[in-house]
Amino acid sequence: MTRNFLRTSDWSRSELQSLIESALRFKHGDDQARMLEGRSIALVFFNPSLRTRASMQVGIFELGGNAVVLEPGGTSWTLEHGDGMVMDGDKTEHVAEFVRVVGRYCSAIGVRTFAALQNWEEERQDPVLSAFARYADVPIINLESAMHHPCQALADMMTIREKLGSGRKKVSNDIHAAFEGVQVVYAKSWGASQFYGMNEKDVAERAQYRRDWIVDAQKMARTSDGIFMHCLPVRRNVIVTDGVIDSPASVVIDEAENRLHVQKAVLRELLGEGN
Ligand code: CP
Repeated sequence: MTRNFLRTSDWSRSELQSLIESALRFKHGDDQARMLEGRSIALVFFNPSLRTRASMQVGIFELGGNAVVLEPGGTSWTLEHGDGMVMDGDKTEHVAEFVRVVGRYCSAIGVRTFAALQNWEEERQDPVLSAFARYADVPIINLESAMHHPCQALADMMTIREKLGSGRKKVSNDIHAAFEGVQVVYAKSWGASQFYGMNEKDVAERAQYRRDWIVDAQKMARTSDGIFMHCLPVRRNVIVTDGVIDSPASVVIDEAENRLHVQKAVLRELLGEGN
């Protein structure tokens, strides 16, 4: 049966641990598998990317395969994903045909599709990713959707395991208390759901927190020799100061490197022997 990699919650804890162990074998040169020899993988990007695109292309190459990069609305046709649509607008092709045609050429399809930031109730269902998974008869790999970024999550856990062995987190809304004695600081900017799709209002709301909600040396000093993590790209001196991201505590480049290894592990699992 075709298996997808859409969200980490679809995979068991032990399966995710096995993927990280496989990624570590790739990283340390203990796995030289080239199971993609003679095979192609499609990478569909509705949105920009540096790390995901480059690491997927390099990973596929290292596994002996060929990456086919497609950009709907850019270098390939605009895509409709809704069921029963009358396609008399600006969309030229439906996902139903797109994924089945690409599936005749390629052994798997990776797709990046961010939220359109128009309708929270609809977009929280990940409609474009779901349409890809519904119509495809080859594995679909989520390269970041409206709700999930499982390749990033796996690389993050791999990085924590490499640096610390294991991790455990609790929730606090107090930014100063949250730094106290922790081993990992993971920064990410979020929008307020009541201002979904209203960027100007969201920015205005966040302005009052801006001075305090930044990872700086004073906050890092409260940690227990904590490491600084971020998925990148990051806005310097908005999310994190130059002093922190350039310090030895910052592991953001290792974290980005681990994207390559975990994605090779995912491809191996989805497309290895028997698949
Ligand atoms: N972290 C991450 O997914 O980076 P890109 O958006 O550059 O791919």
